[in-house]
Amino acid sequence: MRTPLIAGNWKMNNNMTESMELVDNLIQLTKNFNKNVEILICPPFTALFSIKNSINDSVIKLGAQNMHFEEKGAYTGEVSPMMLHDIGVEYVIIGHSERRQLFNETDDLINKKLKAALKYGIKPILCVGETLGQRESGIEKSIIKNQITNAFNDINDKDSAKVIIAYEPIWAIGTGKNATSNQANEMASFIRKTVSELYGELVSQNMIIQYGGSVKVNNANEILSQNDIDGALIGGASLKAEDFYKIINSAQ
Ligand code: 13P
Repeated sequence: MRTPLIAGNWKMNNNMTESMELVDNLIQLTKNFNKNVEILICPPFTALFSIKNSINDSVIKLGAQNMHFEEKGAYTGEVSPMMLHDIGVEYVIIGHSERRQLFNETDDLINKKLKAALKYGIKPILCVGETLGQRESGIEKSIIKNQITNAFNDINDKDSAKVIIAYEPIWAIGTGKNATSNQANEMASFIRKTVSELYGELVSQNMIIQYGGSVKVNNANEILSQNDIDGALIGGASLKAEDFYKIINSAQ
């Protein structure tokens, strides 16, 4: 039985006042929430500590959007897994396509970050996804398979079971053009098959696989009802408490 995970990736949005207002609204909305759904928000680094203190008595979990793979050292401008763990961050997004594309993150770097998160007991959400050109050339599955195989390089069975995978086709991110529920489910089930080849049926059947890319109130229900999709990673629609809450309620 897989518990759906609905996660908000705030990206580089919200100042402190806006962050606290959004969190306060979410706390209110989820006060009596008792469905079997995990709720996660991933604010910018600057807001993590304050938000952690305000969500302590709520059902809302906290994640970071990125991290370095080293514990500490001369890495100006970076934030380490130890620092995230220290303030109670439970999840971290690894290898988001914006980081792969805009900050040149390679499969090797993503593999190092995945291992570092696992070492510190932070649950990694590994993002994978193809470009429009790759999909149009019919190579989307081999791209995803490569991204997964490289990310999991040298990670043992026990640790592999702690990873969450988010399928985020790059052409659907922030474009308002979501993958159809069939496309999303087909890729989620391909990801499950790939994981099964690497780690066996048990790990693959228990793995949480999210879809991300223009998930909105009006398409969440359809996407989240697919067999192999266990939640969503949401950008734009997670910045509005009411919309995010409606999407949370679409999860089953
Ligand atoms: P949008 O929901 O804004 O398309 O962003 C998706 C995303 O990148 C989540 O990580």
